[in-house]
Amino acid sequence: METKISEISDGIYRLSTLVPEIAPPAGFTYNQFLVLGDEPLLFHTGLRRMFPLIRSAVSRLIPPERLRWITFGHYEADECGAMNEWLAVAPQAEVAHGQTGCLVSLNDMADRTPRVLQDGEAIDLGQGKRVRYLDTPHIPHGWEAGVLYEEATGTLLCGDLFTQLGDGPALTEGDIVGPAIAAEDIFKYSSLNPSMGATIRKLAQLSPLTLALMHGPSFAGDGAAALRALADNYDHRIFDRAPDAVETAAA
Ligand SMILES: [Fe+2]
Ligand SMILES: [Fe+2]
Repeated sequence: METKISEISDGIYRLSTLVPEIAPPAGFTYNQFLVLGDEPLLFHTGLRRMFPLIRSAVSRLIPPERLRWITFGHYEADECGAMNEWLAVAPQAEVAHGQTGCLVSLNDMADRTPRVLQDGEAIDLGQGKRVRYLDTPHIPHGWEAGVLYEEATGTLLCGDLFTQLGDGPALTEGDIVGPAIAAEDIFKYSSLNPSMGATIRKLAQLSPLTLALMHGPSFAGDGAAALRALADNYDHRIFDRAPDAVETAAA
């Protein structure tokens, strides 16, 4: 396996590994994002078994022991399986996550005490980079789910939102909503719930310039429009199953 590295926003690098055995013949990518600064931040650790591969990719950009922040969207193997391996190689590194993730899993599972981020709290990474943590419970899955927004570049590190199959370009201006709908139909990975549309539309208010997908290309363009279209699709899925739920959520 090979990990490709691309700069998708100023100082934000996408590390992408295609696993052809998942959803063949298209395959499936796992992406991590390294945000450079005085305090470099990794969003997604990679699977535990992929750690040697991802560490080697990070070392092409910075000495891995310089890593300061270890972050991810939710508690799953592809998001945080190598968290403790990273803590071991980077002595100054801290895991940072929302209150739910820390209370439910990370206070126990992380080898060092994690830093709790409140909804909306920001970390200054230096060199102009600043990431804000936003709670998105159960969206697309996981009670502890959240995203990070890098304010200087307008990059939303949106995790599993917009998941798609295949190994596309590192950065696209093309449609990411259609492929996300297709992947949802195949994997059914989202926890459909009445708050989905409203929560995703709240992310649209950030008007992100770049959407950094964990499974798929990064998107450059009107991030708000893409998020609203995704929210509309989820509303339809939920409305089809439980019309009262959407009416209650909208009230
Ligand atoms: Fe996930
Ligand atoms: Fe994922």
